[in-house]
Amino acid sequence: MSIIKKIITFRPSFTLRILTGLVSILILLSVCTFIGLSDRTRLNVRAAQFESRAIEAGAKVYYDQCARCHGANGEGVEGLGPGLASEFFVGRIELVRDEMQQQSIRVVVPSERLKQIGWTGSLRDYIIAVTESGIPVKTSNVWDVNHPTFGERYGGPLRGDQIRDVASFIVNYGLNPLPNDQAILPPAPGEGQAARPTPVPLTPEQEAGKQVYLAQGCAACHAIRGVGAQGAIGPNMNRMGAVAAERIASDDYKSKIQGQPPATTPEEYIRQSILYPNAYIVPQCPQGPCQANLMPRNYAQVIPPQDLDNLVAYLASLK
Ligand code: HEC
Ligand code: HEC
Repeated sequence: MSIIKKIITFRPSFTLRILTGLVSILILLSVCTFIGLSDRTRLNVRAAQFESRAIEAGAKVYYDQCARCHGANGEGVEGLGPGLASEFFVGRIELVRDEMQQQSIRVVVPSERLKQIGWTGSLRDYIIAVTESGIPVKTSNVWDVNHPTFGERYGGPLRGDQIRDVASFIVNYGLNPLPNDQAILPPAPGEGQAARPTPVPLTPEQEAGKQVYLAQGCAACHAIRGVGAQGAIGPNMNRMGAVAAERIASDDYKSKIQGQPPATTPEEYIRQSILYPNAYIVPQCPQGPCQANLMPRNYAQVIPPQDLDNLVAYLASLK
């Protein structure tokens, strides 16, 4: 009884009360700080997860909307668009974890492209700007097309979040950029304006072959600069004559050709590709590895022999 009474009637000294007060405030503060800190870590982990989801969603937008002009691996497509995965364009970045586990980006090599054109904002903002509203004029005659406007505000198909996602995807190429010699680099502003070499006029046979190319609908899947539709299912044939020579010399062709004798001239290769598309599957198409069975396999029945000769002569003349 007397103990309880003592406790109840206990009057701590003034200093003791102040001390207790101070200590409890200190404890309260550290608890708050601890909760705050762990919450920040959680927020940062959330942010990193959010960013990786954005990159994933951006990849899909890229393959649907951008790959046909900028290449399946961001390497660019001749005449249609510059590489976006080149070190020249994206620079080189590293992901670093700071002490709070936040992943942040460190720019190791900045984009040379931004310096070249004098853009003062970030790479991400440049990508968003071009994608959203396009480029009002062709900056160089090396390009056959004007940049499409993708933003909904500009009549395009993409929402703002999709454009930010595709920008995240492209910036992310910076972790592992393509060496510049493996990508198509854009000309500097004001360069690349020299007129293209005057095309050598086509012979009557080649001209007739061009008409066969158009009439047979090859352009639905293939692209030849300035000729008909610009299909992006099969390889572009801007330099088909030169490419055919490279193909027959390649180990890939020599080891994979099947059911047909290996072609020995570019003309033979082109004829073989038209009549027996599955005899050899070209490795790279605009949207990824080429697929068998896409190109029609009945051209032998559909194209009269004289037309076929002309078509082959036309494609072989493209160098
Ligand atoms: C029809 C072809 C085409 C499509 C589709 C296309 N682009 Fe482009 N893109 C181009 C061309 C051509 C250029 C160069 C234009 C110029 O400089 O005049 C370019 C340039 C760019 C540039 C600036 C590159 C540099 O080196 O300055 C960015 C960024 C870009 N495109 C992003 C995209 C994104 C993202 C998509 C998909 C949402 C896309 N493009 C779809 C043709 C295309
Ligand atoms: C439905 C789409 C489609 C159509 C139409 C089509 N092609 Fe193809 N073509 C492809 C695909 C896909 C490939 C790559 C796969 C392969 O090697 O068979 C290809 C490959 C080729 C190649 C080899 C190219 C290279 O880089 O080695 C030639 C040549 C070719 N096509 C010519 C033609 C011609 C000429 C026509 C019209 C008579 C035509 N194609 C119509 C889809 C098509």
